[in-house]
Amino acid sequence: MKTMIKSSLIWTGPTEEMSTSVFERFRDLIYDNSGIVLAENKRPLVKARIQKRMRALRLLEYNEYLTQVMSDRTGGELQHLLDAISTNVTSFYRERHHFDFMGPMLGNWLSQGMSRLRIWSAACSTGEEPYTIAMEVLEALGQRSVDVKILATDLAAKVLRECQEGEYPSARVEPVPSIMRNKYLIRSGDRHHATYTVSKELRRLVFVRQFNLVKFPYAVKGPMDLVFCRNVMIYFDRDTRCEIVKEFRRILRPGGYLFVGHSESLTGLGGGFTVVRPSIYKRV
Ligand SMILES: C[S@@+](CC[C@H](N)C(=O)[O-])C[C@H]1O[C@@H](n2cnc3c(N)ncnc32)[C@H](O)[C@@H]1O
Repeated sequence: MKTMIKSSLIWTGPTEEMSTSVFERFRDLIYDNSGIVLAENKRPLVKARIQKRMRALRLLEYNEYLTQVMSDRTGGELQHLLDAISTNVTSFYRERHHFDFMGPMLGNWLSQGMSRLRIWSAACSTGEEPYTIAMEVLEALGQRSVDVKILATDLAAKVLRECQEGEYPSARVEPVPSIMRNKYLIRSGDRHHATYTVSKELRRLVFVRQFNLVKFPYAVKGPMDLVFCRNVMIYFDRDTRCEIVKEFRRILRPGGYLFVGHSESLTGLGGGFTVVRPSIYKRV
């Protein structure tokens, strides 16, 4: 049997399996607070992610951790749980075709005299998405003076701190074309441990906030011109996705665009959008 000697530094894992009832209570808590659906086949993943937090708290039983989450009236432990459960995979220039579409489209808008641009990166994770958008917006703007704001939001507090810091190891900036890297990212460190920090110019455009996509109605100041909500609706059920898309429709101006992940679609989620390209929708 796995044990932990309280006075030692060795934590060897939970002393018992996660029971079905405890799994279901975690599952419901996570669903109610994030919309993330966790089917039975996700039990190993839930266990592995919760264990990291149990290790930090040196707890031996899942039930003990559940009690801790439920009894923390500040909501702090619930936030830790949601941080641990959320999948935050992202990258610069992820789904590059979105940015290939956005550049010329912004060029059109600007040539028609656009003076204000509002973009929302909803579920921005560690920031690669909003900073990619910011680089591409600055490229499209050139010397033009336009009032630009990019709202970057996520539910997970941990990733928002990274987004705010805007500091990335060299491996993470590999997808950024070198010309853009030289222009918009500041390199520090040595040849072996280089770090790239987003420039003031990018940072100035990006406003980082915590925002839960499953708390309706949205208190977001519109109208938005573009909304990026990529690779997060896959974690939600159909009803939640319908509600979210309805809110995006309300917040986007007619003619604005909604970008979703390549494996996501608005099919069956209510009207109000036309397909422009796969995963790119125009608000009618
Ligand atoms: C896989 S990442 C996608 C990041 C980025 N949009 C991309 O496509 O690269 C999914 C993000 O959704 C966030 N998320 C999950 N549930 C959320 C919710 N209810 N409200 C806001 N963000 C949520 C997670 O914290 C995570 O950072």
